[in-house]
Amino acid sequence: MLTREVDLRIEAVNMRRFDENFKNVKNVAVPEIYSDYCSANVLTMEFIQGVQIKDIIDMSVPQSKKSEYTRTITKSYLKQVYIDGFYHADPHGGNMIVQENDTIAFIDFGAVGSIDDELKRNMLEFYYAINNRDVEGATQGFLRIGSADARDVNIRRLRKDMDYLIANQNYGLEGRQSDNYAKLGLKYNIRLPGEFSTLQRAILLIEGVCLELDPKYNIKTIAIPVLMDAYKKLNAPKGAALQIEFTSEPVDEKAELRAAIREIAEKMEGMGDKFLSVKQEENKKNVFSKEFYLAVLLIISTYILLNGGAFSWVGLVGFGGAILIAFLALIRGN
Ligand SMILES: Nc1ncnc2c1ncn2[C@@H]1O[C@H](COP(=O)(O)OP(=O)(O)O)[C@@H](O)[C@H]1O
Ligand SMILES: [Mg+2]
Repeated sequence: MLTREVDLRIEAVNMRRFDENFKNVKNVAVPEIYSDYCSANVLTMEFIQGVQIKDIIDMSVPQSKKSEYTRTITKSYLKQVYIDGFYHADPHGGNMIVQENDTIAFIDFGAVGSIDDELKRNMLEFYYAINNRDVEGATQGFLRIGSADARDVNIRRLRKDMDYLIANQNYGLEGRQSDNYAKLGLKYNIRLPGEFSTLQRAILLIEGVCLELDPKYNIKTIAIPVLMDAYKKLNAPKGAALQIEFTSEPVDEKAELRAAIREIAEKMEGMGDKFLSVKQEENKKNVFSKEFYLAVLLIISTYILLNGGAFSWVGLVGFGGAILIAFLALIRGN
């Protein structure tokens, strides 16, 4: 047995905070805390009458009810993460109790997570891009989440994988969705922030239990309206009325512009680096001048262009390339 050396008053604070966040949500609950009977070692709370969600799975409850629970759980969870920024970090099937009126109570707040606005924004922009089938936006968003430099990753392959992931999310079958990002991070050696992993694990738990409740469960279909709402809330001027209208989602032009500028800047930096390394190589070699290679390229290209028949386009490409290289060298003062 592990002994828990924790101050149970922290757990009580977590529960009150959760209660405050959900005071207007009628089908989600948390046990009431009886402060007069609490101390660092004693936590006294309301007893929740009901059945743990893990036990509902094998019970002969109508499928429509089970599906309703998956919606309640998923929505409430996404609200915790993306709207409140404060979430239950261990949402397994034993820590949620279904009450008689179909309200779902979260218990066991020993582990909670919080997510700051920047990560929240990055993640929402990432999901927003995924949902709009915006491969570039999702790729850049993913890099931002991992604070990764586009030059350190094989960006073209990442883009391709992202394209596949987006297609899978938008047109794929039911089933697990959320462990794909973690895999992508591993593949490209992008270190996702700790909160992202904690969260990912929690969402896997949610997805796991919901899939058992409903084999047709798809987190995405439930998540979209909530995430879009959260995204708007994050971008809306303070006090602005929020509308949840997913199809006519206005595009955040400023964010897009920023992303585009960032990308161009990164590309240009990358190009600069390449030019530098080529120059260094050249200085080392010093056997043939670059004019020599350029001349050879020009001659071969011209030859293929004139005699290549069906392959004359190869010559054309070489020809164009040679002219481009010469031009670049010229404007760079070489
Ligand atoms: N407020 C409550 N109402 C009803 N049952 C509870 C309540 N709190 C805990 N339990 C029961 O006690 C079990 C263990 O409590 P929990 O807070 O989850 O601690 P642990 O950290 O050991 O998982 C739960 O799985 C649940 O069956
Ligand atoms: Mg527990």
